[in-house]
Amino acid sequence: MLAARLTPEQVRGDDQNGLGSCTEKTVYEFAVSAGSKAELYQDLHAALDALTADEPDAVANMANAAALIWQYLPDLNWAGFYRLVGGELVLGPFQGKPACIRIAIGAGVCGAAAASRETQLVEDVHAFPGHIACDAASRSELVVPIVHDGALIGVLDLDSPSSARFDAEDGAGCEALVRLLSSRIAG
Ligand code: SME
Repeated sequence: MLAARLTPEQVRGDDQNGLGSCTEKTVYEFAVSAGSKAELYQDLHAALDALTADEPDAVANMANAAALIWQYLPDLNWAGFYRLVGGELVLGPFQGKPACIRIAIGAGVCGAAAASRETQLVEDVHAFPGHIACDAASRSELVVPIVHDGALIGVLDLDSPSSARFDAEDGAGCEALVRLLSSRIAG
């Protein structure tokens, strides 16, 4: 599996003014090398930390998180966020095909993660009662609830065209990403 080997310096790339202040040439170059899934999540965590640490805008941080995950986790057909707005989940920044916009708490895999506040690891979406198909190609799904200061604020949703694409290591890796991100996308 490919691993994104990222240091804060690499994440800054050639942005001479530091993160957030883009100049004519602001390219965040990430070196990618072979490694284990554990290394991949460690490196993703480091990259996400560097990209979001000094940025207070929640949408910007969710957008870069979705882009990083999409770029470095193999075999995905959708990666992004649903936010808790007015008692339902509303589509947030994502990568992939246009997706269903509003999901009731308890509906589908995302709604189940929101209702239970527990990560949903679904090996076969066709066997999940009430699964909401946004892309007919989806076969497996991982949804991690996002909690900040004891309150649910949304979910991170990953879809794959392969059955059983996600395992417990993916679950734990994405939960760590979400813990890092939660305070940076709240409000
Ligand atoms: N499959 C999800 C809906 C969201 S899309 O996958 C982007 C669900 O069942 O909640």
